[in-house]
Amino acid sequence: MRYPFWRVGVFIAAAIWPLLWFYQAFADLLGPDPGKVLVDRLGLGTLVLLLITLSMTPLQKLTGWAGWIAVRRQLGLWCFAYVVLHLCSYMAFILGFDWSQLGVELRKRPYIIVGALAFLGLLALAVTSNRYSQRQLGIRWKKLHRLAYVILGLGLLHMLWIVRADLKEWAIYAFIGGVLLLLRVPPVTRRIPRLLAKRQNLQEKRN
Ligand code: HEM
Repeated sequence: MRYPFWRVGVFIAAAIWPLLWFYQAFADLLGPDPGKVLVDRLGLGTLVLLLITLSMTPLQKLTGWAGWIAVRRQLGLWCFAYVVLHLCSYMAFILGFDWSQLGVELRKRPYIIVGALAFLGLLALAVTSNRYSQRQLGIRWKKLHRLAYVILGLGLLHMLWIVRADLKEWAIYAFIGGVLLLLRVPPVTRRIPRLLAKRQNLQEKRN
């Protein structure tokens, strides 16, 4: 296995947050509504991990370091783990496993439908993230995994619906998402190696 320390570092950095948040919730350290705080933190964690996962390919292109790609799948699976915890926390702490309330909830909080669509997308990506699916799907695998940008759009819409008035934090995530999407547009992607080569030439001339 290549980059073992880097992989372990990513594992620890991703695992530590849900462990801390669940501990805080059960130790009554999250205020009067710990369930809601937990759902919010895990939702935000899912979005942040999705953005981090999507930044691995541009970072590899910009730096030439293969280590970014080595942890891309691991990060994507962590993103899925976070959304599963987000959904489970919602069902346990907000819905109280009272399925008769689901219809009322969907009318009261339609953004849940958007979140559920994003969840299904993440599920499809997690299930097909292995080498076997990659081989079986061939060229279609890449196309399917571009769905990550649609999921990002749905995740941002889901969040926008919730935060509404307080747009500052949302705008930061949306801006980063926009830049990442721009970096995957073919004319921009093609320019990256040329820009890097130009910068290297300039540096060599200066030295
Ligand atoms: C079936 C799937 C999902 C359900 C049922 C769900 C439900 C919820 C609920 C109930 C909240 C809290 C709303 C409140 O504070 O009143 C929330 C917040 C949030 N969710 Fe989801 N969600 C789902 C999927 C997702 C996905 C896929 C993402 C990201 C890609 C996501 C990201 C967020 C974010 C960023 C927040 C706001 C956190 C904050 O305000 O700090 N959710 N979600």
